[in-house]
Amino acid sequence: MDLMRKKSIDEILKHQSPLKRTLRTWDLVFLGIGAIIGTGIFVLTGKGALTAGPGLSLSFLIAAICCGFAGLCYAEFASIAPVSGSAYTYAYIAFGEMIAFIIGWDLMLEYALGAATVSVGWSGYFNNLLQSIGIHIPTALTAAAGTTPGVHTIFNLPAFCIVLIITAIISIGINSTKHVNDTMVLIKLAVIIIFIVCTVWYIKPANWHPFIPYGVYSFHHGQVFGIIPAASIVFFSFIGFDAVSSSSEETINPSKTIPRGILISLIISTILYIIMTLIMTGVVKYTIFAKYLNAPILAVLHQTGQGWLAALVSVGAILGMTTVILVELYGQTRISYAMARDGLLPKFFGDINPKYQTPLKGTWFFGIVTALAGGFINLNILSELVNIGTLAAFVLVSAGILVMRKKQPDLHRGFRVLGAPITPLIAIAFCIVLIGGLSWETWLRFIIWLALGLAVYFGFSHRHSQLHDK
Ligand code: ALA
Repeated sequence: MDLMRKKSIDEILKHQSPLKRTLRTWDLVFLGIGAIIGTGIFVLTGKGALTAGPGLSLSFLIAAICCGFAGLCYAEFASIAPVSGSAYTYAYIAFGEMIAFIIGWDLMLEYALGAATVSVGWSGYFNNLLQSIGIHIPTALTAAAGTTPGVHTIFNLPAFCIVLIITAIISIGINSTKHVNDTMVLIKLAVIIIFIVCTVWYIKPANWHPFIPYGVYSFHHGQVFGIIPAASIVFFSFIGFDAVSSSSEETINPSKTIPRGILISLIISTILYIIMTLIMTGVVKYTIFAKYLNAPILAVLHQTGQGWLAALVSVGAILGMTTVILVELYGQTRISYAMARDGLLPKFFGDINPKYQTPLKGTWFFGIVTALAGGFINLNILSELVNIGTLAAFVLVSAGILVMRKKQPDLHRGFRVLGAPITPLIAIAFCIVLIGGLSWETWLRFIIWLALGLAVYFGFSHRHSQLHDK
């Protein structure tokens, strides 16, 4: 049984679609920011602040450094194989089929569950906005069961509905066009800048003391606290930059443009995140966020008496998170399409609808699963699973660079990670530290997910692979 059968780069490049190369650096930066800024900053900062204290900005910095190193590895792969499929395709070249399958399986956590996580964040702001205009959805239908202690909730109806609406849009082939994405990104950035400018004056430095109340990593009442566990949570805020590496087929001079696009969008997001978290933990005492876990930004606006701004920020957050859901669900349907085309998933996921020219059935399958996950599962469980799946994919992509440098040192690379093998090794080390900061329940869920994946691989994919008879 050959588990390491690989695809050659030439074979992979055959799948390149004849797309026109139109994207430049700033187009990619907008694409990146569209996919990056969302639930992480608008929602998970609440839980992050309770975990790290005011030093949350350091957690963002650690997560950003991890993504920066991993992002360079993505950029080198994108310059070797400028095709869609992202980490799944890269693993097929570097490690062969079984690891490629595992990465594809992992990416389902990043994309499908990622979209579910963002839909829950979306729902929190949507509910707040509705309430501010006097509309109340029954409490039982505003969140998954057990989300808020003492409040009886059953199902997150808004999260469920937004995923189905976006599924319908993607299934008929309307993807976020550059124009729509750029507009949404501008609104999102404008809202963040207005928030910063209006609230920075209310910082009370006393709220920052002590800056790191829980240290780097500590245990209290069976839960992990500190800068590293918070970095493991807010790592979610940076997920999405790989959307940039997936567009290399449409990019002008991708070997230079892709690394720039990844790094600039990461740097802009990091700067905004650090300023925002310093403001949030400076204006209110971080413990207040326990009451505002669904929409922590609103804690700050209530404190500053700028209720009028709350509606504006909510609209910006809702629009911003909508683009993230769209990019992630779209990414999921394309990965499952690529896996089905390679024979690793049933043909069902690769069937192209003749009318809409999209993988309609696969889109609806993942749309419904994602909507149900957003409806029934708690935000923290979802986001931690997304993080561990993505971190595992980052480890494999970074290790893939080490393998490629050793096995194919002379291969043409439009972009080379500076300082390899140290740089990919640093990326791997950061990812392992962040995986270590997640809860043991998340590790267990991830192991079960991987075991399920291996069962699918050995039960179905290995025999049905396109490479089987070669
Ligand atoms: N980084 C994206 C977000 O925070 C997934 O919503």
